[in-house]
Amino acid sequence: MKENRPSATARRAAIRRAAHQLLDDPKVFEDPLALRIMGNEGESALRADPRQSETSPLSSYLRAFVAARSRRAEDELALAVRRGVGQYVIVGAGLDTFAYRNPYPQGVLLAYEVDHPATQTWKRARLKEAGIALPGDLTFAPVDFDIQTLEEGLRSAGCDHGKGAFFSWLGVTEYLTTQAVMTTLRFIGSSPPGSGVVFDYMISPSLLSPAQRARFEAFARRVASAGEPLQTFFEPEALTRDLAVMGFGHVEDNGPEEINERYFKNRSDGLRVGSLSHLMVARL
Ligand SMILES: C[S@@+](CC[C@H](N)C(=O)[O-])C[C@H]1O[C@@H](n2cnc3c(N)ncnc32)[C@H](O)[C@@H]1O
Repeated sequence: MKENRPSATARRAAIRRAAHQLLDDPKVFEDPLALRIMGNEGESALRADPRQSETSPLSSYLRAFVAARSRRAEDELALAVRRGVGQYVIVGAGLDTFAYRNPYPQGVLLAYEVDHPATQTWKRARLKEAGIALPGDLTFAPVDFDIQTLEEGLRSAGCDHGKGAFFSWLGVTEYLTTQAVMTTLRFIGSSPPGSGVVFDYMISPSLLSPAQRARFEAFARRVASAGEPLQTFFEPEALTRDLAVMGFGHVEDNGPEEINERYFKNRSDGLRVGSLSHLMVARL
């Protein structure tokens, strides 16, 4: 990320989530705060032109993927809460709104938003501007993964690792170093049984077909020009094996076919995720 600047990709992801609320029927991910968190001006502009971010042939795939990954994370979170998990760690939260619409009774699910300090400061200003109150069950944990670990950040924030947690980590791993990603996964893997994680990742360019490679390169150019170059890629089979070695007993890699089958079947508008989409669901 550019030094001390809030994440531009976080803003783009939030615009896609908000546009999904306006453009897609049925919605894959219902987020009643997605528009409000954009602020008065941002919300009005999106309502006036919901297609403002639909600037390339990739746009609808990205919008679908942003919706599907949040949906899967919150579906998995609900299962984790049923297993008795009482802490939700949103890693690289961006403008994620879960903590402000937490549906569980107070004290049942404590939320921790972990993010780069610059993005977090910007988000807090956006929340204030939008008049969205900070709930008592939310704690902010500023962490720059280039110089700190998730473990350190959560310890300072008062998160109790021994009690277990569910982690979502959406749209982030590709922007971190491989070392930071693996350190984070090992830490999550050391959580007690019942814990789990949902994260997405970029597939290694060497595994892509020429057509996929062209789409990958267009995306890579765009995020690099926003100051957030892609840094980490995975081969699905090797990542699945690594997660099992770290102690995850259930490891489920979802590629585009599985995601489309689960969330985009039988739609009349043809909305679906593109072939670069990969989501990992891992439970302890
Ligand atoms: C594409 S956004 C995703 C935001 C959110 N999860 C979503 O889906 O809308 C990437 C997020 O990763 C965070 N991030 C990128 N590099 C980081 C770093 N070195 N340390 C901490 N957070 C980082 C950004 O601040 C941003 O919130």
